[in-house]
Amino acid sequence: MIKVGIIGFGTVGSGTYNILQKNHRIIKERTGLDIAVTKIAEINQDKLSGLNIKKDIITADAYELIHDKNVDIVVELIGGTTVAFDYIVDAIKNKKGVITANKALLAERGSEIFSLAIRYKIPIGFEASVCGGIPVIRAIKDGLVANKITGIMGILNGTSNYIMTKMTEEGKPFREVLRDAQRLGFAEQDPTYDIEGIDAAHKLCILISLSFGCKIKLSDISIKGISGIEPVDIEFAREFGYKIKLLALARKDGNELEARVEPAMIPVSHPLSSVADVFNAVYIMGDRVGPTMFYGRGAGSEPTGSAVVSDIVDIGQRLAGYIDKNAFTGLKFNKKIKIKEAERGFVPFYLRFMAQDKPGVLSQISGILAKYSISISTVIQKGRKENGYVPIVMLTHEAIEGDLKKAIKEIDTLPFIKGETICIRIEEGLS
Ligand code: HSE
Repeated sequence: MIKVGIIGFGTVGSGTYNILQKNHRIIKERTGLDIAVTKIAEINQDKLSGLNIKKDIITADAYELIHDKNVDIVVELIGGTTVAFDYIVDAIKNKKGVITANKALLAERGSEIFSLAIRYKIPIGFEASVCGGIPVIRAIKDGLVANKITGIMGILNGTSNYIMTKMTEEGKPFREVLRDAQRLGFAEQDPTYDIEGIDAAHKLCILISLSFGCKIKLSDISIKGISGIEPVDIEFAREFGYKIKLLALARKDGNELEARVEPAMIPVSHPLSSVADVFNAVYIMGDRVGPTMFYGRGAGSEPTGSAVVSDIVDIGQRLAGYIDKNAFTGLKFNKKIKIKEAERGFVPFYLRFMAQDKPGVLSQISGILAKYSISISTVIQKGRKENGYVPIVMLTHEAIEGDLKKAIKEIDTLPFIKGETICIRIEEGLS
């Protein structure tokens, strides 16, 4: 029997437990493993009341679970980067298999955890740390093992994708949609990590280490959230044949790696553009296979529990001797890859200026753009005046982001321009 201890009986912990109860037989038929939850550590034991769980397997002390001889695999589901780290380190040192869904911890302290795991020859499962129920970690590790990965584009955060979808469908402003999402339970009361791109960046760090074998810090990723996106930009995007998504991107460019999370326009013909609501998707380009895409629920009790159970099976098969116990399961960080500075990015851009409607405005704007070698591909001016100002929208050809920012800074000082110019990258896809 494979004996599992779960630390944290919240949304994911209870989902994992339920799956192991409901699908025990089918998992056993498929894998040959008889899996049982033999210990649960939860501080708030009200979460376990009313469930048919034997009292003697419940504890408030995670260390009691980690040191229990009746636990083979420790599943850490409490989140955070301090206590969770201590539990994982202790479990590794106690020679228990370890599973975590904790993306922030892996993004910030993954190299410490995996070097310890290598030293102690302990398998670590982390399928649930990126995009909940989507088996993308295993896809990269196993299914795509024959490939050099050249790029990843992903919608890695369900909350922001839900907000962008509702803004697109209903034309409502960001704040109003966020409030609705919070009321409906699709956004946290403190949504900062989700809407400001940090959650997606944590997941991108893990995907990058896994795909490119290098160490990456959160500060290496250029991160921008969705709070500055306005319905008018979504509407212009639609007219040009694009959708705006919070896009996580990692792309090899020679010896460098470009890594960003920010709102971007993607063509409506790109498969990621139809990923709506709380769904996530990861589009991966392999040098042998070409493009692949993985889609599903990025959060939720049983979707994320499904990923945790897949790790329990993987580690269980090692413990049962079906797979070489020492086969490596984790992240390696030994390759040196230079991170490309965000300012050197080279893509087309969407620009929206709010300008007075009078002669000479366009020529002055385009003059400044020309000074920075930025070439315009399309210009439109339409819509009603707002307090005397109209939107002027431009699409540029590929431009160096740093040059574009300098040009915008100069344009924004012109007397006939109101507020800050909106600038959104256009990502046509990976080649
Ligand atoms: N908060 C995340 C999201 C789910 O909105 O996608 C957990 O990673």
